[in-house]
Amino acid sequence: MKKKVILYRDIPAQERQRLDDQFDVTFFDGMNESNKDAFVIALSETEGLIGSNSTSMPPTLLDLAPRLQAASTISVGTDKFDLTYLSQRGIPLMHTPGVLNETTADTLFTLIMCTARRAIELSNMVREGRWTSNIGESLYGTDVHGKTLGIIGMGRIGYAIAKRGHFGFDMKIQYSNRHRKPDAEQDLNATFMDMEELLKTSDFVCVMTPLTSQTERLIGAKEFAMMKKSAIFINGSRGKVIDEAALVEALSNGTIRAAGLDVFEVEPLPASSPLCKLDNAVLFPHIGSATTETRLKMITCAVDNLINALNGDISQNCANK
Ligand code: DGY
Repeated sequence: MKKKVILYRDIPAQERQRLDDQFDVTFFDGMNESNKDAFVIALSETEGLIGSNSTSMPPTLLDLAPRLQAASTISVGTDKFDLTYLSQRGIPLMHTPGVLNETTADTLFTLIMCTARRAIELSNMVREGRWTSNIGESLYGTDVHGKTLGIIGMGRIGYAIAKRGHFGFDMKIQYSNRHRKPDAEQDLNATFMDMEELLKTSDFVCVMTPLTSQTERLIGAKEFAMMKKSAIFINGSRGKVIDEAALVEALSNGTIRAAGLDVFEVEPLPASSPLCKLDNAVLFPHIGSATTETRLKMITCAVDNLINALNGDISQNCANK
């Protein structure tokens, strides 16, 4: 008999077919008030779960899935699950590292360029008919090339961002991380340092650390105050890694120059957020990996991961081995 699987995000037909070939699949388009009861009933029988990072799977919900053997998230981030809880139950959580590094680094570099060159603000000026003469010094941007790029969290994506900075923009690379990264030091001439020194000496501070109990609110008012007044802050990890209210304050009172954000404490970011009123904040709707090519690679990888895990192979891409 085929194993039962819940798919809680729409995926392309050919990938759905690969799941259907192996499993008895029940599809839900996310989880919401209208389908919650049916979702809970399906959970009581399911052996596998596959879906996206926009749906939370807390222990209170997964307690309702006594037969669960494996879960597969279409993301590299695993923060919508409780890894300790899953490990205690012996359930592997499969994720998609590797396939999205270059695309996510492209997005982060777009944030760096847009904030430094005030691209969105100035583009809006043109669109709204406010470009009536030379822009003048008060609207000049700042250079990216030749500056110091500090990366907090030198994982695979951090490395891909640093590679762009080093080879493409002649930037000096420095990083803080739990462990030293010899490849970044050798290939990109990156300098390892503690976070405090990095904050004080970087022109661009780019946060790429995963969200864990150790990194929650890692950057707050004290850390923004350590940065250069001219610093540009970039967050491509998770919103909860920073204190968003403290960032709004730092951007409003000139503690730092600007911020480029792909992630927020609450997503989707409500239009009423004070961030939406700041010209020196560039805001993206969590699009780090959102290209057609890369999202398909992530889905394919997540389907492979679930098939492998439910067949007993968690040698690749298990987040809680
Ligand atoms: C990831 O893969 O974790 C991205 O942030 C998309 O959720």
